[in-house]
Amino acid sequence: MRTDYCGLIDKKYLGQTVTVKGWAHRRRDHGGVIFIDLRDREGLVQVVIDPDTPEAFKLADSSRGEYVLSITGIVRERPAGTANSKMISGEIEILAKEIEILNAAATPPFQIDDENLSENVRLTNRVIDLRRPAMQKNLRLRYKVAMGVRNHLDKQGFIDIETPMLTRSTPEGARDYLVPSRVHPGEFFALPQSPQLFKQLLMVAGFDRYYQITKCFRDEDLRADRQPEFTQIDIETSFLNEDEIMDITEGMTKEIFQDVLGVTLPQFPRMTYADAMFYYGSDKPDMRVSLKFTELTDVMKSEEFKVFRGAADMANGRVVALRVPNGASFSRKEIDDYTQFVAIYGAKGLAYIKVNDVTKLNEEGLQSPIVKFLSANGLKEIIERTGAQNGDIIFFGADKAKVVNEAIGALRIKIGHEHGLENGYFVKEWRPLWVVDFPMFEHDEEEDRWTACHHPFTSPKPGHEDLMATDPGKCLARAYDMVLNGWEIGGGSIRIHRADIQEKVFGALKISPEEQQNKFGFLLDNLKFGAPPHGGLAFGLDRLVTLMCGAESIRDVIAFPKTQRAQCLLTNAPNAVDDKQLRELNLRLRQKAEPTA
Ligand code: AMO
Ligand code: AMP
Repeated sequence: MRTDYCGLIDKKYLGQTVTVKGWAHRRRDHGGVIFIDLRDREGLVQVVIDPDTPEAFKLADSSRGEYVLSITGIVRERPAGTANSKMISGEIEILAKEIEILNAAATPPFQIDDENLSENVRLTNRVIDLRRPAMQKNLRLRYKVAMGVRNHLDKQGFIDIETPMLTRSTPEGARDYLVPSRVHPGEFFALPQSPQLFKQLLMVAGFDRYYQITKCFRDEDLRADRQPEFTQIDIETSFLNEDEIMDITEGMTKEIFQDVLGVTLPQFPRMTYADAMFYYGSDKPDMRVSLKFTELTDVMKSEEFKVFRGAADMANGRVVALRVPNGASFSRKEIDDYTQFVAIYGAKGLAYIKVNDVTKLNEEGLQSPIVKFLSANGLKEIIERTGAQNGDIIFFGADKAKVVNEAIGALRIKIGHEHGLENGYFVKEWRPLWVVDFPMFEHDEEEDRWTACHHPFTSPKPGHEDLMATDPGKCLARAYDMVLNGWEIGGGSIRIHRADIQEKVFGALKISPEEQQNKFGFLLDNLKFGAPPHGGLAFGLDRLVTLMCGAESIRDVIAFPKTQRAQCLLTNAPNAVDDKQLRELNLRLRQKAEPTA
C-alpha cells in the first residue's frame, strides 16, 4: 500500500519507511548507484538504489523513463551540497529496499520536462502532455476555482439546475453545432451556445437563484481565448437590479482570487462603453496600461492633410493620437515594426511626431514626416490635447472608427507591455473593470441591418424603449461586462420580462412575428404567465482560469481542447462516419469528406 505521495515527503519523515508509487521521471546511473526521480501528482522524490539490495538494483537497472514503479525504502537526509530547497522533498531521499515494476512504458514521444514543444505535438500526445507539472497545476487550479464558485454561490442560496444539451438554437451570435435527429428525419437539435433561454425560463418557474457550470458550443473563428466548446459559470437571479447582480458576481470573483491565489482584488471601477471606446478603442480595455487616446477628429476637419482630413470627414471616421512618454527614442526599425503591426488591423499607415522641443511647434521642434502638412493651429491642438512633453512620441490613427479603434487600441497594449514597465505606464497588477451601458444594437454594415450587441433578450435602459424604433443606434442596454487585464471574462444583462417589449426588440432586429413565434414562441408565451424581473451573468470559466494560471491560451487550462482549426488531435475528431450511420439519420453528403490526417 502507498504510504505517501512522492512530492510531499520532507524532513519530518527522516528514518521512516515509506512506500511511494509513481512514474520514473529521470533515471541516472552513477557508476554502481542508480538514482530515480519518482514522480506523482504531488511532485518528485529522489530514490537511491545501491547494489547492496541486488533484487531492487536489477529492477531499477531495467526501468526506463515513465515506467510505473512501487518503491519502498527508508527516508534519509541528502548528502550535504545536493539538497534542493525549491522542492518539499528536496532535502531528503529514499534509500530503496524493494522495487516493483507495476508497468513498463514505451519510450515517450518527448521528455516530460521539455519546455520547447510545439502545440501540435502536445495536443497529439495530450495524455503525456498532461503529466507535465505545469498542466497538473493548471487543472488543479481550475478545480479549485470551480469549487470556490460552488461554495460561494451555495452560501448565497443559488441552486445548480442542469439544462439540456440537445435543444433549439439560442442566438448568441455564433453558428450552431447541429445534431441530426434519427427519430425525426430531416430535423436537427442545436447544441446550446449558452443556457440563456432556459435560465430565464427557470426564473419564470420561480427558482429565484440559479447557477450552473456548463458547456457551451459555438462554431466561430477560434483564437487564443476561444474554443468551440467552452465552460460558463452561468448565473441568473430574479428581482435584482444590475447593481445587485454586479455586487454578487464581483464579490464572488474577489473571494475566489483571495482563496485560490491569495490575491486581494481592488474594488472594480465602472466605465461606460462609450468612454471605453473613446479613450481605449476597446470594450475590454487592459487597464494595466495607462496610455489613452486623444480625440482629434474635430480638429482635423479644418486641416489640409488628406490622410487626416479624409478620415475626419467620413461619416464613421475617426482621428486619434496616442502619446507615448519617452517614445522619441524609438528607432526607425521599431516604428516600422509598429506600422506593420497596425496594418494587421487594417490601418493604412502610422503617422507619428517625435517631440523634441514643445516650444518650437514646427519642423525644428517636432521630428515627423507629417508636420509640414499640418497648420500651426493643428500642431498646437495636438500638443496641448495630448499634453506631450519633450522626449515623447505621438502616434496617429486616421480611418473608419472601427479600424482606428482596433489598430491604435492594439498598439496601445503592445507598446504598454513592451515599454510601459520602465516608463511608468504599465503596472504588473490585477486590473478588473466593469464596462456598463452597452448599446442595445450594432449595425452590421455588410448586411445593412441591426443586430443585438449582447443578445436579443437584453432589456433597454429605462426611457430608451422608444429609441428602438426611432434611433436604434442611440438605444442603450442594461448590459455589463466584467473585464480583467484586457480579457472579457464575463457578461450579462437585465432581461426583458415583458412580452410586449420583447416583441419590440425582435421588431427592431427585423425578426417577423411568424419567425418570433416559430423560434422563440416558448419564451414569449411563458413571459406572459407572470415573468418576474430577472437578470444574470455568465463567466467564461476557461478565460478566468487562464488568467489566474498566467497561461497564454485557454487550451492550457482545458484537459482535452480543440485546435485553432476545431479539431481534437488526440481522438482525431471530427471524423467521417459510415454510410450506415448516415442512412439511419436520413442524411446524404453533398461531398464525401476527405480523410483528415
Ligand atoms: P457571452 O456570449 O458574453 O454571454 O458569454 C459569456 C462569457 O463566456 C466566455 N466566452 C467564451 N469563452 C471561450 N470560448 C468562447 N468561444 C467563448 N465565448 C464566450 C466569455 C464571455 O464573457 N448568455 C449570455 C450570458 C448572460 O447574458 O447571462 C452569454 O452567453 O468570457
Ligand atoms: P502618405 O501621405 O501616405 O505618405 O502618409 C504620410 C504619413 O501618414 C506616413 O507616416 C504614413 O504612415 C501615415 N499614414 C498614412 N495613412 C494613415 C492612416 N490611415 N492613419 C495614420 N497614419 C497614416
